[in-house]
Amino acid sequence: MARVLTGIQSSGRPHLGNILGAIVPAIQLIEQNSKEESFIFIADFHSLTSQKDGATRKQNTLAVAAAWLAFGLDIEKTVFYRQSRIPEVAELNWYLNCFAPFPMLANAHSFKDKASRLADVNAGLFTYPVLMAADILLYSADLVPVGKDQLQHLEMARDLASTFNHLMEEDILTLPEARIAVDVMTIPGTDGQKMSKSYQNILDIFLSDKELKKNVNAIITDSTPLEEPKDPDTCTVFKLYSLMATPTQTHSLRAQYLAGNFGYGHAKKELFDLLVTRYAKEREQFDFFMNHPEEIEKRLLEGEAKARLIALPLLNRVREKLGFL
Ligand code: ADP
Ligand code: TRP
Repeated sequence: MARVLTGIQSSGRPHLGNILGAIVPAIQLIEQNSKEESFIFIADFHSLTSQKDGATRKQNTLAVAAAWLAFGLDIEKTVFYRQSRIPEVAELNWYLNCFAPFPMLANAHSFKDKASRLADVNAGLFTYPVLMAADILLYSADLVPVGKDQLQHLEMARDLASTFNHLMEEDILTLPEARIAVDVMTIPGTDGQKMSKSYQNILDIFLSDKELKKNVNAIITDSTPLEEPKDPDTCTVFKLYSLMATPTQTHSLRAQYLAGNFGYGHAKKELFDLLVTRYAKEREQFDFFMNHPEEIEKRLLEGEAKARLIALPLLNRVREKLGFL
């Protein structure tokens, strides 16, 4: 039996990359894993490394929670919580900080990507992988579904756990394993690069019809004239469409690209129609939850009460071992 755990930062609105790369695969894994409770949380502490505005964080935290619920997260099988509401994680984070070698942290992509402008790197960003390890180890998680970009952080969580166990001469912390959804590629954003909250290139399927249409129309395409045939394999609109469409739909759009007299405007209209039909239920549910924040709160409070009970015994063992109890 494996305990599944994963989190998404509340540093921005959840986007199609988060949905196809993290939310949908994690929900599938939870469904297959019927025997054991899973852990899904909103990494709001982590979001403070970049986002400083409290009101924005609160709104993003709600939106990330609403996205999980809209996609059908089963809270009967899942402990669903805000990272910050189980402050025990901050205590474990401190202990693990004192076991984290400087060179390991200096090698983390999350730090290295920003290392050319050291003045912009805060200590929270530098020790980001340690808090992530604390998230995982506090709940003795076995399997952590994440995108490829998080693999290195998972390696660090394993290294920290084994260093700790070795020095304590006892297997207190469980070594987690990453689970990468192999069939999910990196979802491109409106500019063709990896879609990310930090690149302002997201496709936000939870926008109103009118705004979503604008969002889809902002996808960058080349300037092949309307009447000429087009290459579907280099087009972001086609890539996004084929990620969600049936093989028959994809085949038919490919034929239209190749035939000519089919413009990018037409392709964008197809993508928009696909998004609103395919995600009609999820978009409606998302709006429901955003308009009823008390329904989100109720579910999170329930999860937080459970999470705290599970976190405490592990933390107590660590405290005891380190001479704090
Ligand atoms: P962002 O880059 O937007 O800040 P996060 O770092 O919060 O996203 O990622 C949350 C989860 O979503 C991670 O598991 C990550 O791998 C996944 N994810 C984010 N962007 C993409 C993408 N473009 N394609 C596939 N998965 C993604
Ligand atoms: N760092 C992850 C991301 O940006 C979010 C995260 C924080 C996480 N803590 C975690 C993911 C623990 C899995 C497990 O995507």
